[in-house]
Amino acid sequence: MDKEKLFEEISDNINACRSCPLYEMRIKAVPGEGSLDSEIIFIGEGPGREEDLTGRPFVGAAGRLLDELLKTIGLARSDVFIGNIVKCRPPGNRVPNPKEVEACLPYLYAQIAIIQPRIVCTLGNTPLNTLVADKLTIGAIHGQVLTKDGFDFFPMYHTAAALYHNELKSVLEKDFLKLGELVSNLNEK
Ligand code: URA
Repeated sequence: MDKEKLFEEISDNINACRSCPLYEMRIKAVPGEGSLDSEIIFIGEGPGREEDLTGRPFVGAAGRLLDELLKTIGLARSDVFIGNIVKCRPPGNRVPNPKEVEACLPYLYAQIAIIQPRIVCTLGNTPLNTLVADKLTIGAIHGQVLTKDGFDFFPMYHTAAALYHNELKSVLEKDFLKLGELVSNLNEK
């Protein structure tokens, strides 16, 4: 089966999922979107209000900042894949709990197995702690490449954090420039 078909099948399963109580409150599940051939993927925490309404990841204010930052390294959102740890909005945008993460994670792993990215960019603590190691904090580790299970992870602050703490915007901008260099080095190899 081709990648698109497999991805569509996973998305159908996500849209019908009732594996944790978050399904009861969702308007739409948010499977993730973008290029399935991308060398880099961005993983956030979970859908917010606008994502829940539209079924699309990172379309609110945090998403608009992500689009801007991508542009600074010559990328459009359609060039990369953008997804989340949990696919349904936690009420009030709270951090998803371990049971919700555990129930949802097989979907992300299946998506990653299809895309086979070279770099997984984690946005904020939730994807960092879920995918890399639970004791790391974004403040200590952002902008550094960490390798695990054959994947290179590149942790960055969440774009929403930069909306609330203006000083983090320039940190994110610098980390995006580093990411741009990593991506061009990939293409030289
Ligand atoms: N924040 C996230 O972590 N994910 C989204 O899709 C939107 C905002």
